[in-house]
Amino acid sequence: MDIHDDLISWYLVNKRDLPWRNTTNPYLIWLSEIILQQTRVDQGMAYYHRFSETYPTLNSLAKADEEEVLKLWQGLGYYSRGRNLLKAAQKVADDFNGVFPKTYTDILSLPGVGPYTAAAIASFAFRLPYAVVDGNVSRVLSRLFDESTPINSSAGKKLFQDLADKCLSTKRPDLHNQAMMELGALVCSPRNPSCNTCPLASHCLSMARETIQDRPQKIKSKKAKERQIDYIILQNDNRILMRKRTDKDIWQGLFDFPSIELGRPAKPDEIYKYVKEALSEHDSAKIKIQKAPVKTYQHVLSHQKLKARFWHFKVEEPFQENSIYLRKNKTQLGEVPVPRLIQQYLTDSSLI
Ligand code: ADE
Repeated sequence: MDIHDDLISWYLVNKRDLPWRNTTNPYLIWLSEIILQQTRVDQGMAYYHRFSETYPTLNSLAKADEEEVLKLWQGLGYYSRGRNLLKAAQKVADDFNGVFPKTYTDILSLPGVGPYTAAAIASFAFRLPYAVVDGNVSRVLSRLFDESTPINSSAGKKLFQDLADKCLSTKRPDLHNQAMMELGALVCSPRNPSCNTCPLASHCLSMARETIQDRPQKIKSKKAKERQIDYIILQNDNRILMRKRTDKDIWQGLFDFPSIELGRPAKPDEIYKYVKEALSEHDSAKIKIQKAPVKTYQHVLSHQKLKARFWHFKVEEPFQENSIYLRKNKTQLGEVPVPRLIQQYLTDSSLI
């Protein structure tokens, strides 16, 4: 099926003017693709500008420290992307003499770069013939071929990559890939697609068979796990005890507060017991509750539904710090990278 002319002509007239489309600089294209992996274009735009202005070249990013990068990433979520951004820049600096790699295999070897991102960079920056498959593209393909295999199953992933490879324009893989994604974003939307303006309508099997509403098929993902976190804020004078997270989880490298997680809201007794144990070298008469939680903060991630409360204690004596529990001056609280829930609380409670 030859769809290239119709698709690319439509794209050239209808495309959004996005900054990463006006460059072939692989560093800027890579940066935009990492930001856009789990983020909408309108939200990602500000971050793209912020990162490309703060780190105009790959080597300037490679020299940054992780805390600074995570702070700039704050609010985008999926922080492994931010950590991998730095690791990948360092790998290019160390293993590729600071020159962004030019082959699909080398690009794929960078941390945080999977087949989709490698194909995007290889085609947009170097016009190499690799087809991208993201959510938008697999929806377009599932309708174009009226394919009922679920797009998120392992069979589906392979099938839609094969279909995308077969459709790819080897003459202009860059324009073809951008056009497929743009068609999915602007015309072939999940609900109520604009089939009457679609440049591929005459090729679309789903349209002919009236199965548009049933495509794409998806396997239902597991229910998000619910977590209840009670955070404990310990304050001595202007200093607050913060915890630098070292566990290899979603918040690695970010700062939060000591916490208890019991699978239910903790009772005041349980909180007091924890605080006394944590500060066992302190005279418990010198630890006073400043503010019990007045509300529950909520944040929904892709696999977790978080509920959090904050208990604020004043401690009359200075507390110890170590490599994980660090004293931060109130003026420093806004400088360290923190998860969204912590940011919400700090803003609400005028701590920053
Ligand atoms: N989403 C991911 N990559 C994109 C791109 N290059 N343009 C628009 N949206 C995107």
